[in-house]
Amino acid sequence: MHITTAENDIESILYTEEQIKKRVAELGKELSEIYKDSTPVMACVLKGASVFYTDLVRAFNGHMLFDFISVSSYGQAAKSSGKVSFKKDFDNDLKGKDVIIVEDIVDTGLTLKYLKELLAERDVKSVKTVALLNKYECHPRDLDTDYFGFKIENQFVVGYGLDYAGYYRNLPYIGVLKKSVYAD
Ligand code: IMP
Repeated sequence: MHITTAENDIESILYTEEQIKKRVAELGKELSEIYKDSTPVMACVLKGASVFYTDLVRAFNGHMLFDFISVSSYGQAAKSSGKVSFKKDFDNDLKGKDVIIVEDIVDTGLTLKYLKELLAERDVKSVKTVALLNKYECHPRDLDTDYFGFKIENQFVVGYGLDYAGYYRNLPYIGVLKKSVYAD
């Protein structure tokens, strides 16, 4: 196998391509059943969810509408203000629509919380969230995502869209990044 520099920075593989493929297919099937009488707007939160999104929509069997959104990171300072704002807003008119927000990972749960709050002002029919990964121990249960692929422990992971400093998104699996890569 060709070993790239990116792969040398990976401590261990958490989920292989095959495991992800199987779980995303299951999620797509589950969502297809839940939304069988609807045409949901499925919104990809850029950039981290992009790889998951393109697989998930192809596992979704039914009409749906594409959308891509980008939000500002709330960061430390903005945490207290309790808001994220759109860097790129929805293209679809959401009035009366079922919306599914597609995220890469839920950590503190604040991004999804703020997105749900923003959408509550838009007269949508419903909002649900789906994340590939759920850092289950890192947020209170009321900030949990509605659907997710895998529960993971509190560790920093990359690949399949997830990055560190913009890198590793193209790895086809999800891996734990070596601490030496981000330690001072
Ligand atoms: P939350 O608002 O704390 O739930 O943060 C969610 C965002 O933090 C995700 O969309 C990711 O961009 C980022 N994030 C959290 N944990 C990780 C990780 O382990 N690897 C890469 N990005 C992460």
